[in-house]
Amino acid sequence: MKNPFTLKSSKSKSLNGIIYVPTDKSISIRALIISSLCLGNSKIFDLLESEDVKNTMKSLKKLGIKIIKKKKYYEIYGNGGVFEEPSDSLYLGNSGTGVRLLTGLLSSRGIKIILTGDKSLSSRPMKRIIEPLELMNLTVEHNKGCLPLIIKNNKKKIPLPIKYDLNIGSAQIKSAILLASTNIKGTTTIIEKFPSRNHTEIMLKFFGADIKINKRKITISSPNFLKPKALKVPGDFSSAAFLIVATLITKNSSLIIKDVGLNFYRTGLIDILQKMNAKISLKNKHMTNGEWIGDIHVSSSRLISTSVNKTIIPRLIDELPILFVAASFAKGTSKFTGLEELKFKESDRLNSMAIALKDSGVIIKQKSNSLMISGDSSQPGGSIIKTFNDHRIAMSMLVFGLASENKIIIDDEKMIKTSFPNFKEIFNSVGAKIEFLPK
Ligand code: S3P
Repeated sequence: MKNPFTLKSSKSKSLNGIIYVPTDKSISIRALIISSLCLGNSKIFDLLESEDVKNTMKSLKKLGIKIIKKKKYYEIYGNGGVFEEPSDSLYLGNSGTGVRLLTGLLSSRGIKIILTGDKSLSSRPMKRIIEPLELMNLTVEHNKGCLPLIIKNNKKKIPLPIKYDLNIGSAQIKSAILLASTNIKGTTTIIEKFPSRNHTEIMLKFFGADIKINKRKITISSPNFLKPKALKVPGDFSSAAFLIVATLITKNSSLIIKDVGLNFYRTGLIDILQKMNAKISLKNKHMTNGEWIGDIHVSSSRLISTSVNKTIIPRLIDELPILFVAASFAKGTSKFTGLEELKFKESDRLNSMAIALKDSGVIIKQKSNSLMISGDSSQPGGSIIKTFNDHRIAMSMLVFGLASENKIIIDDEKMIKTSFPNFKEIFNSVGAKIEFLPK
């Protein structure tokens, strides 16, 4: 059924409070997948219940994995790496992480599987995972490099470990190779040119895999016999990012965001914002299940412009849209280069954000892989944003509307639930003005 409502955000007075954000999407998807590989029952506390995570969960159930929701946790009945051939295709909705990680995991299991997704996912590039999987002697058919993917049950080919130079800063490619390798005898090595989020490596180690990380070199030796564990998912830094920037650009605001995942490869946004004069500090840092967690203290700041280049991009890839919003309200011209990967997300985010900002009165200059933003503490707003069905474009521009002179309306809101189901409620609980609006 079509959603008859959308969302509007208006200039907010100040944001204040102590809050929790939804838990981490990347870690939740990995927790389901990796615990399904164990022999025995794992418990996942605070699993994110968003659409992307639910689609991975439904897919694992179709593969014969029993998953039960208990009062305080999900119980995953791992089958030790044995999956049933499903009677119909696996549908991963909007989730690049879900489809790429599951393709890696399942490609070496000797069963036939078809993987599909929504319109956005069906246009995203899959050759990046298929190429290394083919080097491992695995067969994944595709439709001109896109979905649907068909994993073939090719009994004649013997899967092989590989040594792979990964030249794209992508955790999804790295994870697909690592998960495939857990069922391939021998040692697989990945050398990362642009290191990316390492949740898969951390979690495989936590579950007992024989995995070693030496600077940019990751080696995993299989077969692996993973042991069931209890695991707690931290708050999602990528969701916290919207609240951080909203606090910085609205006046007299001060927020404490509790128990957020602070993995080094996820928090590039903090480094950049601090260089932009942002008042942000991290407190109560501690480690849980191998991941850093802590509280983020943030308050209104007079931001100054910045420049961001390719090296740090993998550490803030999902935060670029909201960083562009911060740059729009900073004094001076910010320069963002090396934005190639931004084009392969839920939408072409370089293009979607350039259109959204321009339509909202921000002076920008867009080139094929770069963006310049001339910031000002006052921005007009007053636009209806084309979100291109992309949750992070929708949320970033709603945050823009909390500080712009005129309201921001987004053309659709339903995709927000792929990652941040209670976005409107959390924002309004700290003083924001985000309301439903009939379409
Ligand atoms: C993710 C990796 C990133 C990121 C995505 C989540 C992950 O994608 O953009 O939202 O969980 O591994 P790439 O690996 O394609 O850069």
